[in-house]
Amino acid sequence: MLGHAMDLQNRVALVTGSSRGIGRAIALELGRRGASVIVHHRRNSTRALAEAVAQELRQIGRHTLVIKANLVDPHDVAQMFSAVQNAFGKLDILVNNAASAVFRPLLQLEEKHWEHVWDVNLRAIVLCIKHAVPLMSTGVIVNITSLGSIKYLPNYGALGAAKAAIESLTRSYAVELAPAIRVNAVCGGLVDETSFSELIPSEVKERVAQLTPAGRMVKPGDIAKVVAFLCSDDAEMIRGQSIIVDGGLTLGLLP
Ligand SMILES: NC(=O)c1ccc[n+]([C@@H]2O[C@H](COP(=O)([O-])OP(=O)(O)OC[C@H]3O[C@@H](n4cnc5c(N)ncnc54)[C@H](OP(=O)(O)O)[C@@H]3O)[C@@H](O)[C@H]2O)c1
Repeated sequence: MLGHAMDLQNRVALVTGSSRGIGRAIALELGRRGASVIVHHRRNSTRALAEAVAQELRQIGRHTLVIKANLVDPHDVAQMFSAVQNAFGKLDILVNNAASAVFRPLLQLEEKHWEHVWDVNLRAIVLCIKHAVPLMSTGVIVNITSLGSIKYLPNYGALGAAKAAIESLTRSYAVELAPAIRVNAVCGGLVDETSFSELIPSEVKERVAQLTPAGRMVKPGDIAKVVAFLCSDDAEMIRGQSIIVDGGLTLGLLP
């Protein structure tokens, strides 16, 4: 058995947007390492997916709770953290993973699109952290960002700007919430087996895999393992960083 198995025992973790994709993988990885995990989703239609994640966690003996909340609604966010407090009495780990985007060239984005991107990807994180901190005597916050924070990606301008802002906030929170709460970000490359990667033609994904020094695209589990590491005591001295998990894709200047 690996040294880190069950190192998150007795920790309570909330992973936003964990009904599917990367959030699901993070919830399951934290659970495998011993944490109780709150599975969060937004829509009625994803309730069954969230329940399935919770069921997987129960099968390995973890305490879990499914919470539906629209993170752009302050009332929903407040209720979500009340439910966490009522069920577990504390929070040790918050993973801000939920995201939603409008993929268009910048000049085609309307006011409502900007509002949506800021509200879901930025304001919601600020709100979640505000409610989480009183429940965390010590703990870890991990924000999930993407290469759009540092690179140009077609139609990704709005979400990229939000991700860059999250990485900036990560540094500020890391200082302002220290020493008890550690804050870092995990910046993912193009992640296969997600709703986003499903939109990408297979020949483009093959090209990305070829250009990736690791020899394949990143998978949700790759992100989840780095998040779990940042949540572990081994990462005590890592603060305010955005760890790129892209298999080395962005290292090359020329293909
Ligand atoms: N996919 C990639 O290639 C990639 C690469 C790098 C970084 N990332 C980042 O990784 C994270 C997860 O990505 P993903 O592709 O796995 O996401 P996804 O499949 O699109 O899932 C998004 C999650 O966020 C939830 N959500 C969306 N809007 C919400 C709102 N207003 N309130 C509450 N929850 C909301 C969704 O809930 P419902 O299920 O109820 O809709 C869902 O659980 C994001 O931060 C993304 O930017 C993704």
